[in-house]
Amino acid sequence: MKKVAILLLLFHSYLVALVHSYGGIGFDPLVKILVKQSSKQQEVNYVTESTATEYSPVYVGPQDGLKAADKILSLPGQPNGINFDQYSGYVRVDPNAGRALFYYFAESQNSSSKPLVLWLNGGPGCSSFGNGAMMELGPFRVNSDGLTLSENKYAWNNAANILFLESPAGVGFSYSNTTSDYDKSGDARTAADSYTFLVNWLERFPKYKTRDFFITGESYAGHYVPQLAQLTLLQK
Ligand SMILES: *[C@@H]1O[C@H](CO)[C@@H](O)[C@H](O)[C@H]1NC(C)=O
Ligand SMILES: *[C@@H]1O[C@H](CO)[C@@H](O)[C@H](O)[C@H]1NC(C)=O
Repeated sequence: MKKVAILLLLFHSYLVALVHSYGGIGFDPLVKILVKQSSKQQEVNYVTESTATEYSPVYVGPQDGLKAADKILSLPGQPNGINFDQYSGYVRVDPNAGRALFYYFAESQNSSSKPLVLWLNGGPGCSSFGNGAMMELGPFRVNSDGLTLSENKYAWNNAANILFLESPAGVGFSYSNTTSDYDKSGDARTAADSYTFLVNWLERFPKYKTRDFFITGESYAGHYVPQLAQLTLLQK
């Protein structure tokens, strides 16, 4: 776990370096990036090799019956004739602290032939349900009456099964029963919790275990996505 944290830190400093290298005036950022990339690449490879055989077990809670309980029969004000399934609920990621992450899952119409996509909004602090699902790529938009929904014909669940995750705890409906958890938020914790979420969520929705899987998002998710991908590859 310590090595993973070091790796994430390295990766993070690399991202920060990238951002900074675009901040200056009058130099060639590409050269700088390439130099940084090659020096960081060696460190990253070194750490990856030494942790590749390490396995840090994550908390896996009982998931029996939770998928059925999470099924959304109909959202308030939803239009008629919807031909895909929706789910939402909590996945506990830390039973001692009482920390749980909220998700909204919009399956595709022909779900079995479509990949699984995890969507993360950024911030930090931006709700993937309120923004991503309801204002950007989700199947519905909130009408100006504030009470009813209309179909978003450009919804991404036309092409994939979209899993909207609210992260970290404290964002959207995701929470912790231990108030001091909110002071300990940070990129490493966000990635670790999101990874634990995924492992547990896949126990709840096991048919997605063998599906093609993509992680995507916007804005600060430029940190969340690669860090979660890295952690997933290390833990796999
Ligand atoms: C938080 O506490 C409430 C009330 O005790 C409990 O129902 C809930 O399951 C706890 N959440 C987690 C994630 O353990
Ligand atoms: C699902 O499959 C049906 C039948 O093949 C097709 O008509 C429909 O367009 C598909 N829908 C999506 C969203 O891919």
